[in-house]
Amino acid sequence: MAADPDVLPGRHPGWPARPGPLRVRAGRVGLRPPRLRDASAWSELRLQDREYLQRWEPTTFGDWHERNALLAWPAQWSALRGLGRRGQALPFVITVDGRLAGQLTVGNIVRGALRSAWIGYWVTAGLAGGGVATAAVALAVDHCFGPAGLHRLEATVRPENGPSLRVLEKSGFRREGLFERYLDVEGAWRDHFVYGLTAEDVPCGAVHALVRAGRAERV
Ligand code: ACO
Repeated sequence: MAADPDVLPGRHPGWPARPGPLRVRAGRVGLRPPRLRDASAWSELRLQDREYLQRWEPTTFGDWHERNALLAWPAQWSALRGLGRRGQALPFVITVDGRLAGQLTVGNIVRGALRSAWIGYWVTAGLAGGGVATAAVALAVDHCFGPAGLHRLEATVRPENGPSLRVLEKSGFRREGLFERYLDVEGAWRDHFVYGLTAEDVPCGAVHALVRAGRAERV
């Protein structure tokens, strides 16, 4: 099998990176690697947005307050940084006008003949409907299919998650099927739609498509 020409041993193409910014209704959207000093901004948003976020996130140990307290961030940051450094993920925070507004992670990166990964995100409730997630996804898509050398992205979403379905559809993802009882969310096995996007679906780039649709401006 031919070697992946983009991958050098011990190096992760496309990481670290700061894609953006793009201007949308909510402000200037950018992506950057997480920092240790994001603790208070991250914890404040996660604690205040509990109702908004918890019903869509995988079931995990501990209660919401414990997992999202200021003191929980260093371990999360360190784990994300490790994944980025080992080439297993592109763990971004989303910023709006320079302030932390959410997270976007490109995870489970597989190289070789597959060159694929999944994408997941959240954006603070205070900016809901402002175009932030769609801009962040477009920036990530172009980064993945450009500097990061990937060919396919996949996203799984609960059929009830209207805003997230809309984000993927605005970003050009195709619905490929239904994974039944796929993920443990809030204590039960939930069905998820699976969406896919390959580089061929966005020949001029996802940001270009968003700008052309009048949903964002380059800045
Ligand atoms: N049904 C359908 N569409 C809706 C609904 C609804 N109930 N509510 C809002 N929308 C639309 C909005 O009108 C907007 O579309 P438009 O631009 O055509 O008007 C779209 O959904 C949202 O687009 P953005 O503004 O770009 O998205 P936003 O910045 O608000 O973030 C997100 C969306 C990330 C889903 C946010 O709601 C969130 O963080 N939710 C909680 C966590 C979550 O669900 N994360 C996604 C999990 S799935 C995954 O990661 C693949």
